Amino acid sequence: MSVHPPSAADTPASRPVLNLPRLREAQGRGEKIAMLTCYDATFARVLDDAGVDVLLVGDSLGNVIQGEASTLPVTLEQMAYHTRCVAQGKRAAFLIADMPFGAYEASPEQAFASAVALMRSGAQMVKLEGGGYTAETVRFLVERGIPVCAHLGLTPQRVHAIGGYRVQGRDDTSAALLRADAAALADAGAAMLVLELVPSILAREISATHPQLITIGIGAGAGTSGQVLVLHDMLGLVGGAGAKRPRFVRDFTRLPGSAAEAAGLSIAQAVAAYVAAVKGGSFPDEAQHGY
Ligand code: KIV
Repeated sequence: MSVHPPSAADTPASRPVLNLPRLREAQGRGEKIAMLTCYDATFARVLDDAGVDVLLVGDSLGNVIQGEASTLPVTLEQMAYHTRCVAQGKRAAFLIADMPFGAYEASPEQAFASAVALMRSGAQMVKLEGGGYTAETVRFLVERGIPVCAHLGLTPQRVHAIGGYRVQGRDDTSAALLRADAAALADAGAAMLVLELVPSILAREISATHPQLITIGIGAGAGTSGQVLVLHDMLGLVGGAGAKRPRFVRDFTRLPGSAAEAAGLSIAQAVAAYVAAVKGGSFPDEAQHGY
């Protein structure tokens, strides 16, 4: 059994092992970045083989793995465990782990200790939710060699403060706040920025204003550097048959108009279809999936 770390030669179809500089190069070429959430080794292998660029061990595992009503109960230990699982299964994809609620807000030092636990579990970048107040923490981590993905717009860890899962940045005041937060996080050295449930025009503007940020949209239109979806959402698994999907989600197992619409695609085919749709620009379709 081989114990060497994955190299380009190991990857299917000569896919290079992705790192931050390579993701930046892809962004520079105008190639869209395909990200999905992932929580275990088997899915990590399937997603990686299907060409997903970035695997996000999201704290959405609280919802889709643990069955919780929010991400708030998820602990750092659980995030480290799932990060380790995904790291064991992936080959070429870049791996980001979420900092869970309560693991980074108290101080930059607390955030550093939590980020170390996730990086030791195999993460190559950590993601944390929140605006300008987190900029000091982002700078602290980046200066210590930890790449950071910020997360603005709908930040699910603040669901009780926000009062629900709804689009952010619709009015002038909240749009101005989002712009200021993005600028502060870019200035602090964040390399990536997830924009969740943000009007597409605003996400496009933020992406254009900060080309040093790799922007990843979810319910934020087509103007970002890439897209992310929760794996279980794009496989049509959430909520059971007939459940209403959020508007920004597409079920890639049953693509309308495709031969497989009734029968359904395999998981590997659905994930490959997602990658192709993100890279080809057919997902998201702003009219259907944007705000
Ligand atoms: O936890 C998660 O899955 C996320 C994505 C929705 C971006 O943060």
